[in-house]
Amino acid sequence: MTTAPTARLAAPTARRGAAAPSTSASPSSRRLAFHRARRAASRVAASVTDDPHAWERFYLTHSKDGAKGHDVGAFKDRHYLRKVFGELCDADARASPETFRSPLTPDTLRSVDEANAVDVLELGCGVGNSVYPLLRANLDMRVVAVDCSPTAVAALRANPEFDSRRVRAHVVDASASGSMRECVEDESMDAVTAVFFLSALTANGLRHATEEIARVLRPNGVLLFRDYARGDVKSDGSSQFVPGERVDGDGKVYRRPDGTLAVFFDADDLNAAFRSVGLEGTCKIVTHSVTNRKLGVTIDREFVQGRFVKPVEAT
Ligand SMILES: C[S@@+](CC[C@H](N)C(=O)[O-])C[C@H]1O[C@@H](n2cnc3c(N)ncnc32)[C@H](O)[C@@H]1O
Repeated sequence: MTTAPTARLAAPTARRGAAAPSTSASPSSRRLAFHRARRAASRVAASVTDDPHAWERFYLTHSKDGAKGHDVGAFKDRHYLRKVFGELCDADARASPETFRSPLTPDTLRSVDEANAVDVLELGCGVGNSVYPLLRANLDMRVVAVDCSPTAVAALRANPEFDSRRVRAHVVDASASGSMRECVEDESMDAVTAVFFLSALTANGLRHATEEIARVLRPNGVLLFRDYARGDVKSDGSSQFVPGERVDGDGKVYRRPDGTLAVFFDADDLNAAFRSVGLEGTCKIVTHSVTNRKLGVTIDREFVQGRFVKPVEAT
């Protein structure tokens, strides 16, 4: 029986929420489903190894002042998360997710209201392109942000919007077994977010990360993620957008020229991975048109998007 408080989040809308699988199955069929899911999860990128220093090299390449990380222009801020992860946002942002939220300033920074506090673990936070748009969209959100790149974490901390009352940032290899035990307590998070993080992991790394996600979520806590989908134009061997060298047999895993991995998932891969650690929910394929101004083209991208909940244990 768990004594941890259950998660405090806005109820998801029908559009965003994916139906959880039925939990009325018998214990033996649940055990069978669990083992099937485990086997399926371990098929993702099973034979591929990663280069633990590749992401640090990536951020150093994009940093104007080296490891100080005061000016790292790698990705754009992901303001669309107000829409995609709406249940983490305040009521105004949920009602009108298109409305831009300005950067926080010393005048608008404040401590969270403890009664409404929402604790979020952001995996693979990079320099904060997801963290800061979400912090703006809910002033009662607190974030633990982890990334394996010291330069990325330095950049996230150097952001003028960084506020130690609301953000803790750690350099962590989240693909290692028990990786976050030192910095995140059991059942202490209302939500875990992962934005283009899971695709950076090997099969073993994904397994360890899913175990940590299940450990840190409160009962009723939610995992929200968005990532690359197989079938996306970037995983199509004939396309000019191919991210790098294909390094597995079935065309899901690429190694970019800088050594970072890009796994393109089938929704079932991630359904299996998260159900195997007891989370309930669904990963689905979503499409989004993206305009590349440099190349002068608009392409339809396909992503996997998931919402999984840690069930409240029966007492
Ligand atoms: C594509 S970037 C996404 C960054 C950020 N989530 C965003 O929204 O822009 C993937 C991030 O995952 C991080 N990462 C990759 N492998 C990791 C690992 N094993 N542990 C922690 N972070 C990792 C990388 O350093 C990088 O910052």
